[in-house]
Amino acid sequence: MANHLSRRDLMRGVLAGAVSLAFTPAASVQLGPPPGVITLRYNENPYGPSPGALKAAAEAAALGAYYPGAIETDLLRVIARRNGLRLENMVLSSGSNEALQAALVAWGKKGRILLPELTYSDHLDYAQRMGVELVRVPLRKDMSIDLETIAAAVNDSISLVYICNPNNPTGMTLDGDMLRDFCRLIGNRAVILVDEAYIELTDKPQYTSVVDLVSEEQNVVVMRTFSKIFGMAGLRVGYGMARPDLAQTIAGHVMAWPNGVGLAAALASYTDEEFINISRAKIFEGREMVNETFRKNGIEPLASQTNFVYADIGRNATEFRQLMATRNVLVRGSFEHYPNYLRVSMGKLEELEVFDRVFNELYQSSGHMGGEIHKY
Ligand SMILES: Cc1ncc(COP(=O)(O)O)c(C=O)c1O
Repeated sequence: MANHLSRRDLMRGVLAGAVSLAFTPAASVQLGPPPGVITLRYNENPYGPSPGALKAAAEAAALGAYYPGAIETDLLRVIARRNGLRLENMVLSSGSNEALQAALVAWGKKGRILLPELTYSDHLDYAQRMGVELVRVPLRKDMSIDLETIAAAVNDSISLVYICNPNNPTGMTLDGDMLRDFCRLIGNRAVILVDEAYIELTDKPQYTSVVDLVSEEQNVVVMRTFSKIFGMAGLRVGYGMARPDLAQTIAGHVMAWPNGVGLAAALASYTDEEFINISRAKIFEGREMVNETFRKNGIEPLASQTNFVYADIGRNATEFRQLMATRNVLVRGSFEHYPNYLRVSMGKLEELEVFDRVFNELYQSSGHMGGEIHKY
């Protein structure tokens, strides 16, 4: 009986339990998609982490007893140098979502947040739960962000404007100089937070990014992540770049700092041009495959400069997503007021071949064929 167990018996039991746990087959640890399931719904990049990142992560894990330490500044210094900035311009966070949330909460205390409808929203939901007030501006008819209307809506009540470029879920990109003009125009009235999570996948990353405005000391915050081109979504590293006073405000509101494993992997990836080029090339190839799947079904997707494609499939996207899920292919259904738009993230090329097969079959057998070409 349990209450007659000696201390030694107890220790033996605990140790036996620990040993059996240690030998539990790895298959019971569920990280990433379950076996046989193709996940094309969170804009992850399955080509990462790079081999160099994996090696660095394993070495860092062996030192997991210690808080990360100097690697935080080592990483930020490398990123700052590449962007012509100083350490004071940098803020680190656990995935960029954390820094985005911190920024919205910080400026949400000073006023309302202005942003387009249909944009990345995890941080917005969090900010609203924290009592931050959001003001939304509709997209243009062609689904692009309406900078003119946003600029006209910046009044004394607005403390920050959030722009995601390229935008998620549309995948569409604002012209770099247009956005620069916008930032210079309204920067004396509000902070402009530009989320550049997918910037490395745009046609002209250097031109499209507004990071040069940070060197100009404009009222601009640029947010980036290691989750996309670097394929490290599970390792949780993101960063912001801004004038020192703005960076400090965000740092003061960040709650979760990155872990040493993620930081080591990020440092190993950041300058790994060979991996970056492979990653980008695979994503572009996958994007063309998905565009082609849509087009051969009479659907014209929006022009994406990201690792996902967004398209009006002419029928309810959430219902169609559910149908695809019965075949173990997971995509994203409707967002906001766009019930017929489906979003597909770039998986591995062989996964996108399965997507192609399943999409064709289900699209052509369920409901009418999208005979009409949707142009944007
Ligand atoms: C536009 C955008 N910003 C930020 C994030 C958050 O990325 P993370 O927190 O992994 O850096 C995402 C994730 O999908 C995103 O699409």
